[in-house]
Amino acid sequence: MSSTADTPRRYAPARPARAPRHSRLTRLSHAALVLAVIVQLASSLVMRRPYGGNPGNGFFQIHEYAGLVAMAIIVVFWLNVIGRRLGTAPAALMPWFSAERRRALHADILRHIEAAKRLRLPEHDERAALPSAIHGMGLLLMTYMAASGTVWYAMTANGLGHVAFVRPMMEIHGAFGNLVWVYLFGHAALGVLQHVTSSQPLSVMWSARD
Ligand code: HEM
Ligand code: HEM
Repeated sequence: MSSTADTPRRYAPARPARAPRHSRLTRLSHAALVLAVIVQLASSLVMRRPYGGNPGNGFFQIHEYAGLVAMAIIVVFWLNVIGRRLGTAPAALMPWFSAERRRALHADILRHIEAAKRLRLPEHDERAALPSAIHGMGLLLMTYMAASGTVWYAMTANGLGHVAFVRPMMEIHGAFGNLVWVYLFGHAALGVLQHVTSSQPLSVMWSARD
C-alpha cells in the first residue's frame, strides 16, 4: 500500500531500479551530521561546563566548536532539502501543514500498528508517510540542539548570558539531549533491521557513489 502519492521527488517519473534514492549531497550531509551528533553526545558525557569562576574543560570546548560545526551542517542539510530534486519532499518530512498528508500519516500509523500486532515489520514502502515524518522530527530536534547552543554561545560571548530566556533554553537543550540518544539508537537500529531483513539496504543512505 502506498501512503502518499508524491513523497519522493525525482528527476524522472519512475526511478530506474539501481538509481540512488537519495542525492549525493543528502548522503554526505547526513554522514557529516551523524558524525557531528556523535561527537556532541560523546563530549557531553565527559565535559565540565564553565561554572562560577571555573572554566570548562577541554571536552566542553570540543562540544562548543563541534556544535557550531553541527549548526553549519544543519543549515546545509535544510538548504539541500528545500532545493534538491531527488529525494524526500520537504512536505513529507513536515506533514503537519497539509490535511492530505496528515491523513496519509494517520493511515500509515495504523498500518504500522497492524504489522506490530503480528510482530512483523510493515511491508517496505519507500513513500511511507510515518518514517519520513519521524526523520523530519529528528531533523527538527537536531536543529533545536544546534541552534539553542549557538544562541547560547553568541549571547554568553557578548556578556548577555544572564538574559531571561537563555537559561530555560539551555535547560531544554539538556533535556532534549536524552531524546537525541533515543533518536540515534532507534533510527540506527531500524536502519540496520531493514538492512538485515533485506527490505532496504543501508547503502541507500551510506554510499558515496554518484
Ligand atoms: C547537534 C548539536 C548538539 C547536540 C546533539 C548537543 C547535545 C548536548 C547534550 C547531550 C548535552 C548534555 C545534557 C546533560 O547531560 O545535561 C548538552 C549540554 C550542553 N551543550 Fe550541547 N549539543 C549540541 C550543540 C551545542 C552547541 C552548538 C553548543 C554551544 C556552542 C552547546 C552547548 C552546550 C552547553 C553549554 C551544555 C550544558 C547545558 C547545561 O547544563 O546548562 N551544545 N548538549
Ligand atoms: C542522530 C543522527 C542521525 C540523524 C539526525 C539522522 C537523520 C536522518 C534524516 C533527516 C533522514 C531522512 C533524509 C531524507 O529523507 O532526506 C535519514 C535517513 C536515513 N538514515 Fe539517518 N540520521 C542519523 C543517524 C543514522 C544512522 C547512525 C544510520 C545508520 C545506521 C542512519 C541511516 C539512515 C538511512 C538508511 C536513511 C534512509 C531511510 C530511507 O530512505 O527510508 N541514520 N536520517
